Amino acid sequence: MYWLIGEGTQNHAQYPLANAQYPLPTSNSQKKMQFAQRLQPLQSNVFADMDIAKAAALAAGRDLIDLSLGSSDLPTENHVIDAIAQSLHDPSTHGYLLFHGTQAFRQAAATWYEQKFGISVNPETEVLPLIGSQEGTAHLPLAILNPGDYALLLDPGYPSHVGGVYLASGQIYTMPLLAENHFLPVFADIPDEIVAKSKMMVLSYPHNPTTAIATLAFFEEAVRFCQKHNIVLVHDFPYVDLIFEGKGVPSILQADREKSISIEFFTLSKSYNMGGFRIGYAIGNAELIRALRQVKAAVDFNQYKGILNGAIAALTGSQTGVDAGVNIFRQRRDTFIAALHHIGWEVPTPPATMYVWAKLPAPWTHNSVDFCTKLVKETGVAVSPGSGFGKSGEGYVRFALVHNPSILEIAVERIAEFLH
Ligand SMILES: Cc1ncc(COP(=O)(O)O)c(C=O)c1O
Repeated sequence: MYWLIGEGTQNHAQYPLANAQYPLPTSNSQKKMQFAQRLQPLQSNVFADMDIAKAAALAAGRDLIDLSLGSSDLPTENHVIDAIAQSLHDPSTHGYLLFHGTQAFRQAAATWYEQKFGISVNPETEVLPLIGSQEGTAHLPLAILNPGDYALLLDPGYPSHVGGVYLASGQIYTMPLLAENHFLPVFADIPDEIVAKSKMMVLSYPHNPTTAIATLAFFEEAVRFCQKHNIVLVHDFPYVDLIFEGKGVPSILQADREKSISIEFFTLSKSYNMGGFRIGYAIGNAELIRALRQVKAAVDFNQYKGILNGAIAALTGSQTGVDAGVNIFRQRRDTFIAALHHIGWEVPTPPATMYVWAKLPAPWTHNSVDFCTKLVKETGVAVSPGSGFGKSGEGYVRFALVHNPSILEIAVERIAEFLH
């Protein structure tokens, strides 16, 4: 059994019960220390296995090309850095920032959202700054679930969605994402008894790792389903700008204009290459925002004000850098897909995100971990095994396009040698 922490999910359709007995490993020299059972599902980690394989490849003198992590290699723009640097010299930014961040940040996020999606947002009650969107999606279950309540999650999906439910002692029902359904969940397939015990559903489109996008009609169906069954609808939306064709993708709030049950999570990590700065925000139903703020008030004091000032500069300044980033990732995508096709690996062209989701050829169709560990050991090319993102990800690998086209082409040459 494999579990991912950081990037990925468990590979079980239905996860262990919160009250199961799990012995935790102890070393001989240690007294047996007792930890909470909720930690148990977070123990094993496919990425840890990959890290070991990457270290072994480096030790063997391989030249590592790491396509396994979705962390942008592009720099943060200068006007954003300048705003943060100025703040550093301003002592008024050095203290705690209480409650829900600065009014200026909340207003910048609300205005950005209104301009993009045409729905007005109250910056006082409907916006909450986060220390990265992962922090928000992982904390939200603490505000929604009682022990044993179900969360409906995508499989494959993003790990903080899983981790947050376990930390809240909730249970997980995974909705399989299959190629024949365009990697969208089928709500009618969820058993009635699970629906009755479900308190939240998490969607995320454009989707990591499958790169699928969702239509407004799909979101409307999700809203109707969740309204009918009294389920909170969460939409994790980090790839809002990383779209390669068309006019953009819908926000969940366009399907729930009253903000009756929905909350959406945004990040500056992808659009503005600010992953290391840890800044994101939630927009949505005022009661959900207040509940998440209550959880956060117990565990953190907000992101540093200087970084909020950098985020304001990013959200309100020129957006040409965002467009330039999209063009760079489109060019990488085109180069990489052409190179894979050239070596006979037919993969679909992703419509969005910074990833390529590729079905493995024989004999690897049922062992993505084996493929990835052997590939990195023998060639130095590191990619993520699909099973690390959930049971339905088995038989796939995810490439993160975080290098220039020339490096991506070298990676594909090495993959070709490995496959043949
Ligand atoms: C679906 C999804 N949510 C959240 C995140 C993390 O965002 P942040 O850096 O804001 O925590 C990622 C990063 O890869 C992601 O793919």
